[in-house]
Amino acid sequence: MTGTAAEIVFDNVSKRYPGRSSPALDGLSLTIPAGTFCVLVGPSGGGKTTALKLINRLISLDEGDIRIDGTSILDLSPVALRRGIGYVIQQIGLFPHHTVGENIGTVPKLLGWPAARIRERTEELLTIVGLDRADATRYPQELSGGQRQRVGLARALAADPPLLLMDEPFGALDPITRARQQDEIRRLHREVGKTIVFVTHDIDEAIQLGDRIAILGEGGRLAQYDTPDAILADPADPFVAAFIGEDRALRRLALRRLGDVPLLPFAGGGPSVGSALTVRNAVSLLLEGGFDRLTVTGDAGTPIGTITLAHATSLLQS
Ligand SMILES: Nc1ncnc2c1ncn2[C@@H]1O[C@H](COP(=O)(O)OP(=O)(O)OP(=O)(O)O)[C@@H](O)[C@H]1O
Ligand SMILES: [Mg+2]
Repeated sequence: MTGTAAEIVFDNVSKRYPGRSSPALDGLSLTIPAGTFCVLVGPSGGGKTTALKLINRLISLDEGDIRIDGTSILDLSPVALRRGIGYVIQQIGLFPHHTVGENIGTVPKLLGWPAARIRERTEELLTIVGLDRADATRYPQELSGGQRQRVGLARALAADPPLLLMDEPFGALDPITRARQQDEIRRLHREVGKTIVFVTHDIDEAIQLGDRIAILGEGGRLAQYDTPDAILADPADPFVAAFIGEDRALRRLALRRLGDVPLLPFAGGGPSVGSALTVRNAVSLLLEGGFDRLTVTGDAGTPIGTITLAHATSLLQS
């Protein structure tokens, strides 16, 4: 694996665990272009963790192939393969007898980095995930579940791998910390352009984070694979429609910011709002305040247009 991001191709992958009547994954084909933030979402037991574990060969596939940048994972040694992959597992999985700092430095140490560079990188990562530098000398059992989860994230990022696999990494976090970590991982993704495969069963998290979402149904069947907007606009089947829930329209509006949509010409009147506000929040403001319009302002505070409820509704047609 070279470069900053890797393309991943699932080519007709099936996996059946011994003693199970139905497959965990059934003929999964999925191309994740290099640099994509891909979210795997679906109900419990849908095969999400199985799909991640197949990529780094923690389990073996029965049928089909997985290729990273064109090379079959079966042609790489598991050790070489995993060095290029940061993995955040669902149950955190820190080494209990190693300090936080040693946990984070695991892969850099394997790669033979000098101690000073590992220390520097560890401190940088602790800051990124919102922990204290002094936490480096503590042991995992001295941290809360959410803090441990953040150490797991820091460990996965440590050697700057081209591919990150994240299995419900924010599951144990309170909503505020979770939102902060979501922003952080999006920002990291924008800045360093890695390929990320991120598992969640939370459709809102999927919509907020993903460039693309793969929805896995019962028995590891791929129900739909598309951008969040396309899935919300046009769910492939009743299963997907039920999974994404009732308020599809509002969720679509939450994906767009006022600065990115066509607005009505500036006509004066109504309170002013910034162009970074989502259309969904603008709709909330219109409804809660009983306003008939809002003036949208650009960077310098100058009006760039107007939004009304009717106009917000019309945006859903495009
Ligand atoms: N080691 C195993 N042995 C036997 N069956 C397994 C094993 N691991 C997973 N399974 C089964 O395979 C199916 C898919 O499991 P998987 O862990 O991939 O689901 P998941 O989508 O990650 O679910 P969750 O959202 O609950 O984490 C489930 O039916 C599960 O019971
Ligand atoms: Mg799982």
